[in-house]
Amino acid sequence: MSEHSFPDGFLWGVATSAQQIEGGAQEDGRGESIWDRFAASPGRIADGSDARVACDHYHRWREDISLMKWLGIGTYRFSVAWPRVVPAGRGAVNPAGLDFYDSLVDALLEAGIRPSVTLYHWDLPQALQDRGGWGARETAEAFAEYADAVSLRLGDRVRHWTTHNEPWCVATLGHEQGAHAPGHRDPAEALRAGHHVLLSHGWATEVVRRNSPGAEVGIVLLVSPVSPATTSQVDGEAARRLDGSLNRWYLDPLFHGRYPDDAVADRVRLGHLEDPDLPFVREGDLQTIAVPLDFLGANYYSRTVVRADSAGEPVAVRMVPERELTDMGWEVFPQGLHSMLLRLQREYRPSKIYITENGAAYTDEADATGRIADERRIEYLRGHLAAASRAIADGVPLAGYFTWSLIDNFEWAHGYARRFGLFDVDFATQRRRPKDSAHWYRQVVAANAVGDLAQQPLSRRIP
Ligand code: FCB
Repeated sequence: MSEHSFPDGFLWGVATSAQQIEGGAQEDGRGESIWDRFAASPGRIADGSDARVACDHYHRWREDISLMKWLGIGTYRFSVAWPRVVPAGRGAVNPAGLDFYDSLVDALLEAGIRPSVTLYHWDLPQALQDRGGWGARETAEAFAEYADAVSLRLGDRVRHWTTHNEPWCVATLGHEQGAHAPGHRDPAEALRAGHHVLLSHGWATEVVRRNSPGAEVGIVLLVSPVSPATTSQVDGEAARRLDGSLNRWYLDPLFHGRYPDDAVADRVRLGHLEDPDLPFVREGDLQTIAVPLDFLGANYYSRTVVRADSAGEPVAVRMVPERELTDMGWEVFPQGLHSMLLRLQREYRPSKIYITENGAAYTDEADATGRIADERRIEYLRGHLAAASRAIADGVPLAGYFTWSLIDNFEWAHGYARRFGLFDVDFATQRRRPKDSAHWYRQVVAANAVGDLAQQPLSRRIP
């Protein structure tokens, strides 16, 4: 078959997040976020940048909607900045913050684009961090209040809600590895943080369902299949451990109402937990977390290959030549999306799945005519869409796909040095220009299908 068609009604979208595109960091009463604070500490962001201006989407959102309209997409996944809506994290709601999203939602609907709102994409109000952040149970309570404020205001028009984006990143990158805000290296705190994020998901789901009756509510997880580097028993065991902490630690409580026993035992062995009873889990928490989801959002970028170190712990290794890596150093591995979707379906049976992020960082300069020929991004997207289409044929209830990202943006600890956009952004002038991949994606969306590599001299068809 030379073409992969998608089912009627399949949703095509793009994704962004508030901290990565908005800027306007001190405008209209927005409070400080943990990423503002993190970026202000020397050495935290690789290129020394911060997100005070980012893509200036706070002022250019109308233009950005026009880019989406041109793409022809049916849905836009964006996040609401908690510090814009509740600047002190708890207490007074900032009406100007809600007004911004209110106008955005109206304009999207007018453009025929369905808003898909993520409540938390990592920009915790610093005021809450000062009181313990996600390590403290109070932050989960604050999140439910914030979810209430947002869904009360937007719940009549927004029909698609995501509570959290990638709890693993919040817990592990933020609290165990220190690579993301708040930059802690405390594995015990990371476990508490992860639990409070999941707990707050359960509470917020109830709140949003009350304020936005009939709307879809789900959560977005980072998913990455873990393979052992060799067939040795120790490498196989290392892969099991990483799969436990990266994938199952979140999937199991959400779908089965319990943390995975083997992964809990790993944490006890590592000294991250004193005993397998998980002292931070209170009665009823797991039922709250396992509230049925309307969909599971899966963010897929790559697989993870591991070998065991001398203590048997997983260490990531690269098995492929440099050219098969994106600028993130992530292997291009579309088969992993197919196998992961099948596994989610087999082991967790979500009623519906969206691929809520998938994309690639590559830097491609404009030529003399202004054209940005990002063939590698097109190949990446094409391969992953073909994998997604095979998964649908294999019975996975995949209902939509969001490319990460609409525009080049603030890529967290990498700053602006990693470009994921379908549109190039010149950060000095804020000019947006479509890359070839934007033209290509537009054709995919219009056709509801993706052609095979050999078949498409696509770049030549771009004016
Ligand atoms: C994901 C994040 C998103 C973006 C991509 C590259 O983990 O959700 O914000 O940074 O990675």
